[in-house]
Amino acid sequence: MWYNQEAMKKISFGNLMVTGGAGFIGSNFIRHVFEKTGYAGRIVNFDALTYAGNPRSLDDVAAKFGERYVFVRGDIRDPEAIRRAFDEYSIDAVCHFAAESHVDRSIVSPGAFIETNVNGTFNLLQAARERGDAFVRFHHVSTDEVFGSLGAEGFFSETTPYQPHSPYSASKASSDHIARAYHDTYGLNVTITNCSNNYGPYQFPEKLIPLMILNAVEGKPLPVYGEGLNIRDWLHVEDHCAAIWTVMTQAESGTTYCVGGRSELRNIDVVKRICALVERFRGPLPNGAPRESLITHVADRLGHDKRYAIDCSKIERDFGWRQTHTADSGFEETVRWYLDNPAWVESVRSGEYLRWIETYYAGR
Ligand SMILES: NC(=O)c1ccc[n+]([C@@H]2O[C@H](COP(=O)([O-])OP(=O)(O)OC[C@H]3O[C@@H](n4cnc5c(N)ncnc54)[C@H](O)[C@@H]3O)[C@@H](O)[C@H]2O)c1
Repeated sequence: MWYNQEAMKKISFGNLMVTGGAGFIGSNFIRHVFEKTGYAGRIVNFDALTYAGNPRSLDDVAAKFGERYVFVRGDIRDPEAIRRAFDEYSIDAVCHFAAESHVDRSIVSPGAFIETNVNGTFNLLQAARERGDAFVRFHHVSTDEVFGSLGAEGFFSETTPYQPHSPYSASKASSDHIARAYHDTYGLNVTITNCSNNYGPYQFPEKLIPLMILNAVEGKPLPVYGEGLNIRDWLHVEDHCAAIWTVMTQAESGTTYCVGGRSELRNIDVVKRICALVERFRGPLPNGAPRESLITHVADRLGHDKRYAIDCSKIERDFGWRQTHTADSGFEETVRWYLDNPAWVESVRSGEYLRWIETYYAGR
């Protein structure tokens, strides 16, 4: 990894709270910080363990980093729980991932998105503000979906006006504004990243790429919205984690950075690539048909944004950050990971980890 250790000394903290650290990006981020950045402090993973949180994704980290890794089961909708954890662990920085994150769920049940993504972010900012000078950085992890939808041309950048469409993107837009307001009004040390679609290991299989991998392996239908012509800019989760760490340790307070993969693909092409990879590793379907024959077009998502694409030249220019995975290498690595980790996949799909959580916490 190409981290500039001198530049990172600009912001120094030793008790970092990562919210939502049992989720997809948060768990990758915690592993990345411990293993790749030279960070010598403690990480407190504050996570409510909703259906999307799986503490088992960090079994290796817990075993390897001992007391430097602490897991707290807590809900960001509960201001007292946040304060208790801030006090107990002398939290001096936050990297905030915890969110309801699935657009389809936000269309069915928007209330949870407002409570966690909007009110929860407010509760965290308030707790950070109350720590005064002892608190050095609040990094808010956000999405490019806050900018709305693009036509065939153009890119989102740090100066694009907000125009969210789904309850999910509207809740994230709202939390971005509140985080920025805490910087502008109270001088809280805040940075924000708006990132495009992520893929990689430990992603809950309701999202496009893991869902398609697992269904293609099992010979189940591959549901594609409409004609599958919507375009997303795909970034490997490890490149996202490196971008977040770079911004949170090097960027000026009050700044925002857009992060993207420079890798625009139509949904249908993503699914076809995954089918080809699964076929390379596992062969065609038992009846000899290609895995692609499982593609099933379904009614389009309500208000489905047409195209997202990011101009990430600011983070490239300011810090030399670059993507280290292409869609070719990253998709292949990801398909392999899901094939090589059946125990994790099974624990998530069967709800085994949910039962494990209940047993683990029984009587605590
Ligand atoms: N996945 C992407 O492609 C993508 C892209 C850009 C930005 N983001 C943002 O990154 C963040 C993480 O996304 P993800 O895909 O890892 O999500 P995820 O759904 O996999 O994980 C979310 C985590 O937050 C936890 N959580 C949910 N509600 C909580 C609450 N009330 N209190 C405490 N913890 C709670 C869950 O248990 C889970 O561990 C989100 O803020 C999302 O908006 C995601």
